[in-house]
Amino acid sequence: MTFSDRKAFVVGGSRGIGASIVRHFTSAGATVIFTYAASVGAANQLAAATGAKAIQVDAGSRDDLIATIRNAGPIDIFVYNAGLLVVGDPLTLDADEIDRMFDVNVRGAYFGSIEAARLMPDGGRILVIGSDTADNMPFPGLAAYVLTKAALRGMVRGLSRDLGPRDITINVLQPGPTDTDMNPADGPRATGMLGQMAIQRYGTADEVASLALYLAGPMARGITGAAQTIDGGFAA
Ligand SMILES: NC(=O)c1ccc[n+]([C@@H]2O[C@H](COP(=O)([O-])OP(=O)(O)OC[C@H]3O[C@@H](n4cnc5c(N)ncnc54)[C@H](OP(=O)(O)O)[C@@H]3O)[C@@H](O)[C@H]2O)c1
Repeated sequence: MTFSDRKAFVVGGSRGIGASIVRHFTSAGATVIFTYAASVGAANQLAAATGAKAIQVDAGSRDDLIATIRNAGPIDIFVYNAGLLVVGDPLTLDADEIDRMFDVNVRGAYFGSIEAARLMPDGGRILVIGSDTADNMPFPGLAAYVLTKAALRGMVRGLSRDLGPRDITINVLQPGPTDTDMNPADGPRATGMLGQMAIQRYGTADEVASLALYLAGPMARGITGAAQTIDGGFAA
């Protein structure tokens, strides 16, 4: 139980990759708090099954997110997983929808990480979930989404310098096609995705969560400011 003395806070933990991260950290002995926006049933079920605490708060609402993190007290491991995917012709996509995606994918990740870092003890860990599309984007319609994920690469580079003196690491995990509600393995985009991959299968949320657990653990203390891609070779 490597994490029995650790408190983890997962933003966006009710479904998909975030839910698997909650399950992995609770199984490893951590005390886990996770947030969600809309999926009340899934969040309550996950909390009951794992013993994690669920809190409903919109990650795109800066002050609410900051207040929730502050109320949680010192956090050893902060994971920012919440993300929205808006796809379509950039000439016709709704600007408010794009702004909303920027709020959740970028502003929440930045302000959440800063607030977590404020009270984090030395040796803490910050993980943000980006995307391998920051490195390879072979499809139209995803420019704004890729912009949000590429922004996280810059963020972890910069913050690694600010937090390194306190032995706090910050890294971005970059999943590729991963079978979740956002990108189902039997969805309309699956054939195109598989065509870009070296390994011809979708990844699983558990594979991404295993990497998160490793990066949060003692073996990864020298990894910071880095992007860790797990994408079956999509961006190779
Ligand atoms: N699946 C993929 O192929 C893939 C590939 C690369 C990167 N990613 C990234 O991986 C992360 C997780 O994706 P996923 O595939 O697991 O997506 P998902 O199945 O759609 O789950 C998204 C999670 O984020 C939460 N969330 C969304 N908006 C939120 C908000 N405003 N406040 C708080 N929580 C919010 C959702 O909670 P509610 O349901 O309660 O709103 C849900 O728990 C995202 O950042 C995504 O961009 C995914």
